[in-house]
Amino acid sequence: MMRTATCGQLNLKNLGQEVTLSGWIHTRRDHGNLIFIDLRDRWGITQIVFNSQTNPDLLHQAETLRPEFVIQVKGKVEQRPQGTENTKIPTGEIEVGVHSLVILNPSPTPPFEIGDQYVNEELRLTYRFLDLRRKDMVESLTARYRITKIVRDYLDQENFLEIETPYLTKSTPEGARDFLVPSRLSPGAFYALPQSPQLFKQLLMVAGYDRYFQLARCFRDEDLRSDRQPEHTQIDLEMSFVEEDDVMSTVEGMICAVSEKMLGKKLERPFRRMPYDEAIERYGSDKPDLRFAMELKDLTSFFEGSGFKVYDQVIEGGGRVRGLCFSPPEGVQISRKVIEELTTWIQDFGAKGLAWFRVKSATEVESPIQKFFDAGRIANVLAAMNAKEGDMIFMVASDPMVSAVALGALRKKLAEDYGLIREDGFEIFWVVDFPLFEWNEDEKRFDALHHPFTAPRETPGYMELFDTDPSKLRAKAYDLVLNGTEIGGGSIRIHSREVQQRVFKALNITEEDAETKFGFLLKALSYGAPPHGGLAIGLDRLVTMLLKRESIRDVIAFPKTQRGTCLMTEAPSEVDLKQLQELNLNIKRS
Ligand code: AMO
Ligand code: AMP
Repeated sequence: MMRTATCGQLNLKNLGQEVTLSGWIHTRRDHGNLIFIDLRDRWGITQIVFNSQTNPDLLHQAETLRPEFVIQVKGKVEQRPQGTENTKIPTGEIEVGVHSLVILNPSPTPPFEIGDQYVNEELRLTYRFLDLRRKDMVESLTARYRITKIVRDYLDQENFLEIETPYLTKSTPEGARDFLVPSRLSPGAFYALPQSPQLFKQLLMVAGYDRYFQLARCFRDEDLRSDRQPEHTQIDLEMSFVEEDDVMSTVEGMICAVSEKMLGKKLERPFRRMPYDEAIERYGSDKPDLRFAMELKDLTSFFEGSGFKVYDQVIEGGGRVRGLCFSPPEGVQISRKVIEELTTWIQDFGAKGLAWFRVKSATEVESPIQKFFDAGRIANVLAAMNAKEGDMIFMVASDPMVSAVALGALRKKLAEDYGLIREDGFEIFWVVDFPLFEWNEDEKRFDALHHPFTAPRETPGYMELFDTDPSKLRAKAYDLVLNGTEIGGGSIRIHSREVQQRVFKALNITEEDAETKFGFLLKALSYGAPPHGGLAIGLDRLVTMLLKRESIRDVIAFPKTQRGTCLMTEAPSEVDLKQLQELNLNIKRS
């Protein structure tokens, strides 16, 4: 037997037992006639002792041992002498007195110590097999597994079936670019890796597999950030004969089970629901972080006709002046330099400027633009913002969406920069009542805000809105937001072929195009498609947030860098000419 116990298992109950342990050398402490080694595996650490008095030859062998060697030892479980116990670990009251040692495999000195100290992420990812030995990573992958187990158990109990859908498939539009896979058997043709199982799960509903789920890998070729990976995992589910409430309630049950079992935290149900318009108005975001207040206010009415050109022009053009009131922490002064930096920063969000009032009293401010406003206007603004001495009011005048989104971003930045976020907060809620379409100014056409298969809300006369004002159509869609991150999203789907065709038309997809790309879906919709809907949770994001990890990469065993590369395998990499020839591909080199 290679071992009789793991390195996390032995304690005082095992005193006197003969045991065999195998593991990695975590640390070695040399005391001349005694050598202590912390032996490690994913279950923990056990102290083993080599003693010159009982076995001098063995002690010499032990002197050659180095960190990360894999060894096997046989020995006896002994109580540690008083005062040398380690109360921080479950095996801390015992040690194993070694009488036999086998070096199973040596190791060169690792490029970093397997501990908690900071290590540059590039190095960690290059040597991921070593990085994964760290306790942090063991904990996060273990927790990830437990979460998926809780999810599977919950969905199983709710009578869901787990069904796999293809990875080699046709493009499924979720708004990103596709990863393509060339086909050898059909020269010149490509599979696309799925951006989600969306169409297949809908087809499963048409086929009658009411209540499907899958832990599905999704592939999206998009610009990466700390909460995005080119391949991510979704807890993907779909149900038939349901309305929005049914899907949301099922998902709430699942999240509550996870929260209760993982964090011991009971969440209140039903989760709060915030209409999209309210989220934009109050927080300037469709995924607001509610762990701090600092709400936006529409100040347009206070500034109308003031004579300040910048504001007047924006207001006359149908725009808005919005503001937020920031209370700096005790002793912090927001300097002109900081304001200048914020002014430059906020331009990335489309704001042409950032106006500010430094509040002196209930009626007085310091500001480069105060001369344009009479005392009454200023007092009204201060009252509306509930401002007190020392506060900073920041304002953006722009079209309604830009003024909200730019200030929403500033709200988040200020909270982060000045530590206003309640780190122990757990603010989970639904954003509902999304618009069906979003105007794409660059392409001069509408995009689906969720995806093109989302059902419109059937308000009176809604079908006419497709012709008259598509931007007024609302979607039966819902997003789940946790602490300012979108952790999931879904919708009731279109189950009528005609409505689906109408939506494609609104998205400028020609009938011909719709037929080539989605002919199979349109066909299926005409063969008795039931009303259905579902949702997908971003598993990586959910785990990251539950474990309070910095980045999604900390909960994925083998993640990619922000540049989409794997530093360990060096993927993506060039391939042999022969492989390219088999695939009928030529690489153009510039
Ligand atoms: P959506 O595109 O909103 O919906 O994706 C669902 C959830 O998946 C997570 N997610 C990601 N996580 C990591 N890296 C990425 N690149 C990434 N992209 C998305 C997010 C997101 O909320 N088919 C629909 C779901 C449905 O309608 O049922 C879909 O994919 O947490
Ligand atoms: P200007 O007339 O461009 O010198 O701007 C006067 C003040 O108005 C400066 O403090 C600008 O930062 C601010 N400002 C300009 N454009 C905007 C805008 N769109 N929203 C808010 N403040 C602005």
